[in-house]
Amino acid sequence: MNCVQSWPEPIVRVQSLSDSGIRVIPERYIKRHSPKPSLKLTTPVRELTIPVIDLENLASRDIALRANTLALISRACREWGFFQVVNHGVSHQVMDQVREVWREFFHLPVDEKQVYANSPTTYEGYGSRLGVEKGAKLDWSDYYFLNYLPTCQRNEHKWPSYPSSCKEIVSEYNEALVKLCGELMKILSINLGLEENRLQQALGGDEVGASLRVNYYPKCPQPDLTFGLSPHSDPGALTILLADNQVSGLQVRKDDNWVTVKPVPNAFIVNIGDQVEVLSNGNYKSVEHRVVVNSAAERVSLAFFYNPKGDKTIEPAEELITPTVPPQYLPMTFNEYRTFIRTRGPCGKTSVESIKSPR
Ligand code: OGA
Ligand code: NI
Repeated sequence: MNCVQSWPEPIVRVQSLSDSGIRVIPERYIKRHSPKPSLKLTTPVRELTIPVIDLENLASRDIALRANTLALISRACREWGFFQVVNHGVSHQVMDQVREVWREFFHLPVDEKQVYANSPTTYEGYGSRLGVEKGAKLDWSDYYFLNYLPTCQRNEHKWPSYPSSCKEIVSEYNEALVKLCGELMKILSINLGLEENRLQQALGGDEVGASLRVNYYPKCPQPDLTFGLSPHSDPGALTILLADNQVSGLQVRKDDNWVTVKPVPNAFIVNIGDQVEVLSNGNYKSVEHRVVVNSAAERVSLAFFYNPKGDKTIEPAEELITPTVPPQYLPMTFNEYRTFIRTRGPCGKTSVESIKSPR
């Protein structure tokens, strides 16, 4: 594991920068240059959107509807790596409550949040950077990271005690998402032609990992020069994102375009992580995504990461290996794999690229 004990430079809270009223962002956050004024398009481009799937259809008596829904999910996993789900069984009230609890946390005075300041050893707590390289460019966001599974890594003392309902609501929310992830792993297994528990077993069965990262993107005076979160793919197996209910910002890569996701009310955004790309031997893609910020409004999102058991070796499922399709990725444990992003920060798809089998 990565043994770095502390951040290479003093931590600056992006929220404090934003609140200070600066008009020009510090150099460290400048990651791109203002886009050139776009050419006037003469023909309107059809707007691309990620697929929206009604999960209730999978319980329908209508066989054709069930099959069609499975097929839609299969296509989404191959072609987008992303989809939204509605009628997913998670209480809308809990979804609203958990988002608001975290909004309230981030609105606390800095001193009160500072008690939970995190370090790169576990990342647990209140943080403002990903990666430990000295002098690295930074993203325009603060976050809160906590471990949920395995239970031996759950430490509620490291969760905020204010708002007072935080621990209870976060537990209720996380429990519901563990269940949803379990169901989605079955669907993905079936769609890959595997036995329904296959992916879950490969991740470690009852010993899977899960963590929550709450992202806080403050208003930014020069949004075109930076990212809320730089392009990356998620290192785990599956991510369930609860987006802000008012402000969009997530963009998903589709070929050479960045497609802005318009969250459907009460939906979750689901995306394939690197470990499912590996297990599926590349049939499913862990797709690059990024977050853009804006000058008018802050944004809060909750990313729930469903991960393999830390010391489980992840490699392409043997059922998906044929004489013409050899394994596309090298085996690696998740503990090892995770050090890529924890050391270097978000860097596109470089982690997955580095474990591609040599041809
Ligand atoms: C992430 C992520 C997207 C968002 O936390 O990995 O991609 O919209 N978040 O905040
Ligand atoms: Ni992500």
